[in-house]
Amino acid sequence: MDYFRYREDELFAEDVPLKFLAGRFGTPLYVYSKKTIVRHLRAFKRSFSVLNPLICFAYKANYNRKILEIMKKEGFGADCVSMGELKLAKKIGVPSSKIVFNGNGKTEEEIEMAVGMKIKMFNVDSVEELLTISRIARKRNTRANIAFRVNPEIEVPTHPHIATALKQSKFGIPLEDAFSAYELAKQIPSIAVLGVHFHIGSQITEVGPFLKALRKTSAFVRKLGRRRIPVKFLNIGGGIGVRYHRELPADLDTYAREFAKCLKIPVKIIMEPGRAIIANAAVLLAKVVATKKTRYGNFAVVDAGMNDLVRPSMYGSYHEIEPVKIFEDRKKTKYSVVGPVCESGDIFAKKAALRQVFAGELLAFRSAGAYGYSMSSNYNLRSRPAEVLVDGKNFIEIRKREKTEDLI
Ligand code: LLP
Repeated sequence: MDYFRYREDELFAEDVPLKFLAGRFGTPLYVYSKKTIVRHLRAFKRSFSVLNPLICFAYKANYNRKILEIMKKEGFGADCVSMGELKLAKKIGVPSSKIVFNGNGKTEEEIEMAVGMKIKMFNVDSVEELLTISRIARKRNTRANIAFRVNPEIEVPTHPHIATALKQSKFGIPLEDAFSAYELAKQIPSIAVLGVHFHIGSQITEVGPFLKALRKTSAFVRKLGRRRIPVKFLNIGGGIGVRYHRELPADLDTYAREFAKCLKIPVKIIMEPGRAIIANAAVLLAKVVATKKTRYGNFAVVDAGMNDLVRPSMYGSYHEIEPVKIFEDRKKTKYSVVGPVCESGDIFAKKAALRQVFAGELLAFRSAGAYGYSMSSNYNLRSRPAEVLVDGKNFIEIRKREKTEDLI
C-alpha cells in the first residue's frame, strides 16, 4: 500500500495533508513516511530470513539520524563510508558487531577510528589499504577484521555511473588478483581474514546479475577454503532496485529465494541495502515559483533545485511528479519542470504531462528518500531543505532548514 496517496483531491503523507506540512515548514521539504520505512525494513527481514543475514543499511542513501534510529530499532546494522557515518552509527548506538566500513579512499584517521571502535569488518579496497590497516591495528595491539572487496566483473543493466563492478571500475580488486591479496592478508598477525565482499552496482531490478556475482564469488570462496584460507562471511553489498517509473523490479521474496538456491557454500551473508529500504519512503515537496510559456514550450519553475535533489540532472533519473491538489477541470499540458539553479541541467522532467499549474501551487517529487537529501548541496548558496517524518497523524521535524546565516 502507498502511504502517499490522495484523499479526494489532496495528496497526503499517511494521515497528514502535504499542504499542511508545506505551510508549517516551508518548501522545499523532504517528507518521510515512517510506516513505509518500517514496512520496508520488516519486508526485507522477512524475505531474507531464509538466508539469516546481517543487514547493514547503507548510510550513504540517507543519513538522517531519526531515520537511522528507526533502522537500529529494527535490528539493522550500518554500512559506513566515512568518519561522519562511523561517528553517527556510534552515536545512535549501533553495536560495533553490526558496523562495516566501506570505501576506496579510507584515510588513516578514519581507519584509526574504525579500529578503535572494533567494528565488525573493514571492506578493504586494495592491498595497499590492507597494509595501512594492518599497521594501525598492530600499533594498537589489536587485530582488524577484514573482507576484501573483490570485483567479479559483472555487466549490470543500470546507469553507468552506478555500475560498480565493470572491468575498469575504480572499486575493489579484480577476482583474478584477489587470491594473492588473501594469501598476504592471512600472514599478517594484526589482520583477521573474515570474508569476501562484492557490490556490483545500484538500482538493479533483476536477480540475474546478483546470481552471476554469487556464483563467481562462491567459487572463489571455495578456492580460498581449499587453500586453507577459510572465510565465514560473504558480503553481497546493496543494489536491489526499486520502482521509480515503469520498472518492474523482482520482489524481495524472489531475490531471497533465488539467492538461497544459488548459495551452496556455508557462509554467513551480509547485505548492505540502501535504496530498497528508503527510496520510496519520501517525497520532496516543492512550490511552483513561476510558470512561463515560450514558443518552444511551457515551463514550471519550482523552488527546489538540483542542489536539493540532484538525481535527475546527474543520472537523468525519473521522479514521478504529482500535484498536491488535483483540479479535475484543468487540462493536461506538457511542462518542463525546472529548478531555479543557474545550470541548464537543473531539470526535473522534460515535457511531463501535468494538469495546468500556477505559481504558489505545490508539487511532490516521488521516490526521493534515497540519495535525495544525502546528495544535496549548497550550490548557488542555497540553504538545504528541512526534513519531516510523518507517523500516522503525527509528524516531527527531523532536520531544520539551513539558514543562510549558517552558511555565510
Ligand atoms: N554497498 C556499497 C559498497 C555501495 O557502494 C552502495 C551504493 C550500497 C551498498 C548501497 O546500494 P543501494 O542498495 O542503495 O543500491 N547516488 C546514486 C547511487 C549510488 C550508489 C553508491 N553505492 C543514485 O542516486 O542512484
